[in-house]
Amino acid sequence: MKKFILVLTACLFVLGISLTAALATDPPTETMTVTNYGSKDAVKFAHKTHVDAKIECVTCHHKATAPDAAADQYKCGNCHKAEAEAGVPAIKDAAHEKDTGKCWKCHNNKSPDVKKELKCKDCHVGA
Ligand code: HEC
Ligand code: HEC
Ligand code: HEC
Ligand code: HEC
Repeated sequence: MKKFILVLTACLFVLGISLTAALATDPPTETMTVTNYGSKDAVKFAHKTHVDAKIECVTCHHKATAPDAAADQYKCGNCHKAEAEAGVPAIKDAAHEKDTGKCWKCHNNKSPDVKKELKCKDCHVGA
């Protein structure tokens, strides 16, 4: 019986790992250039820093909530364009609208939730 439980636990463990692997799209490991429409120097974004800080994917990827979300649900620029359209905020507001913008929420000193204050040049480093 003891052995059976051991084997069962091992099976569940392996199953658990493969389920996790199947559920999450892996975040890019290299620092990436965020979709840029050209009116300002491009922003470099490091997933690693943010994943290490234990920030959940859905905090930013608010439309990639389904476990099997397709890759295009992750790219902000697929939906957020240079100008707002049909209820979808412009990419600038998606990033730094006061209080709701996904980057400024944690990085603007005027935000009540600021985690680390950053200046324009810290993010807009250019391509
Ligand atoms: C702090 C915000 C933030 C967090 C947290 C975050 N991401 Fe991202 N992610 C971004 C931004 C910004 C981009 C660039 C989108 C663009 O260029 O339009 C991106 C891009 C991606 C892309 C590439 C999309 C493409 O086709 O270019 C994938 C895949 C991705 N993220 C997966 C993840 C996963 C999985 C997690 C959680 C482990 C995660 N991200 C956590 C902000 C975040
Ligand atoms: C599949 C399309 C899609 C993708 C991809 C997407 N968004 Fe959005 N976003 C929307 C729509 C549509 C709205 C309007 C409100 C709603 O429907 O949630 C929105 C609203 C927002 C808002 C306004 C406040 C809120 O949360 O409702 C912010 C901020 C935002 N998006 C940031 C981002 C960021 C940052 C990314 C990439 C990490 C991203 N979005 C990816 C479609 C998308
Ligand atoms: C939920 C809070 C949160 C959000 C949302 C967030 N960040 Fe961060 N970010 C952090 C924290 C915390 C650190 C500091 C990590 C450390 O110092 O160890 C950080 C660090 C950084 C840094 C400096 C270190 C590095 O990774 O190069 C940059 C640049 C940065 N973030 C850009 C962004 C951008 C661009 C966005 C929007 C796409 C964003 N962040 C959204 C919490 C956040
Ligand atoms: C925490 C990171 C961060 C900081 C700090 C930041 N931005 Fe941004 N900003 C972004 C992201 C992400 C985008 C959307 C991606 C893009 O447009 O390149 C953006 C977009 C923009 C856009 C729209 C560009 C376009 O192509 O439509 C302008 C203009 C802009 N920012 C100006 C500024 C100015 C001015 C400051 C300083 C007061 C600043 N940003 C500070 C992350 C940041």
